[in-house]
Amino acid sequence: MTTNRKIVLKKSPEGVPTEEDFELLDDEISTPDTNQFLSKTIHLSLDPYIRGVITGRHIYSEKVNVGDTIVGRTVSEIIESNHPDYQKGEIVLTSNGWQEYGISDGDGVRKLTGHQGRLSTALGIMGMPGLTAYAGLMVYGEPKEGDILVVSAASGPVGCMVGQIAQIHGAKAIGIAGSEEKCNAVKNVFGFEDCINYKTENIDHRIRELCPNGVDIYFDNVGGETLDIMTKNLAFNARIVLCGFMTQYNLSTPPPGPNLGPIVGARATIRGVVVYDHYDKQDEFISKASQWLQDGKIQYMEDEVVGIEKTPAQFCKLMRGKNFGKTIVTM
Ligand SMILES: NC(=O)c1ccc[n+]([C@@H]2O[C@H](COP(=O)([O-])OP(=O)(O)OC[C@H]3O[C@@H](n4cnc5c(N)ncnc54)[C@H](OP(=O)(O)O)[C@@H]3O)[C@@H](O)[C@H]2O)c1
Repeated sequence: MTTNRKIVLKKSPEGVPTEEDFELLDDEISTPDTNQFLSKTIHLSLDPYIRGVITGRHIYSEKVNVGDTIVGRTVSEIIESNHPDYQKGEIVLTSNGWQEYGISDGDGVRKLTGHQGRLSTALGIMGMPGLTAYAGLMVYGEPKEGDILVVSAASGPVGCMVGQIAQIHGAKAIGIAGSEEKCNAVKNVFGFEDCINYKTENIDHRIRELCPNGVDIYFDNVGGETLDIMTKNLAFNARIVLCGFMTQYNLSTPPPGPNLGPIVGARATIRGVVVYDHYDKQDEFISKASQWLQDGKIQYMEDEVVGIEKTPAQFCKLMRGKNFGKTIVTM
């Protein structure tokens, strides 16, 4: 066996993370104890929440300190097992983090037996981001035939699934995204009715043009000015699902919030979604999403690089918003 290459935190990032905040180290591959298995990572998921874990602001995960290996979900193959429930050769969803090999006692591990589509989708549209989209939309957005839904960060795994699942339920989806390429994909790959490029277009004007009677569901992945504008463009009894705050993760103090007065005028409902509350819906989601994928009703895109050493640059790209599709590192 070769060595285990891993990425550790070198210094706590200030603002947008840079590659200099991380360090690639060689380590020995650990041996599994009784009731443990060793797995080799095939795909590593890079997600915005990791930025909060590094600064200790993610309430569901322990802080990553300087010198620690960065955490993250992985699709991995078991190569040695001393665990009665896991066999060599099985493919699992586990949490090896930013390294090539990892040890697990099975806690939080899911076998990917019968997984539909490319294995990496277990980290994206069929994984935690997909479940976030499904639960947030179905539980709090309550899409109905004829509804108009708007979602920000529309080309990412959460955004593209929100729009596609809304369309499956008879709603019209409009995206907001940060480049022409992203907007083209949102319309042509994910089938949204339209997509607003907020870097070159005025969101307020375009929403008024596209939705003269207001927006029934706004699924917010970014916060900030976009959320502020969307609160002023709501239909009666609209629902806002607060999912993520991409505009704020790299800031040390949160900016002043939006004025929520128009929420009252529109009799709108705002709900916050936290994916960890909805794992009871995981089986239902995977079963439905597998069928949708098989029937060609949902599409996906990935922003993939190969090689553990590319992980820091790929994460920094995600945190600058330059990723295009679900951010993955393949080993
Ligand atoms: N509540 C939960 O339980 C939960 C679970 C999973 C994810 N989330 C949240 O859902 C959102 C989407 O996650 P994802 O995995 O699908 O990510 P993603 O869309 O692949 O990547 C994030 C995107 O945010 C956009 N963005 C807007 N303003 C930005 C800024 N100032 N800096 C950087 N990026 C900016 C960028 O797209 P554009 O260029 O198109 O703007 C960027 O590509 C995130 O906010 C994430 O934290 C929440």
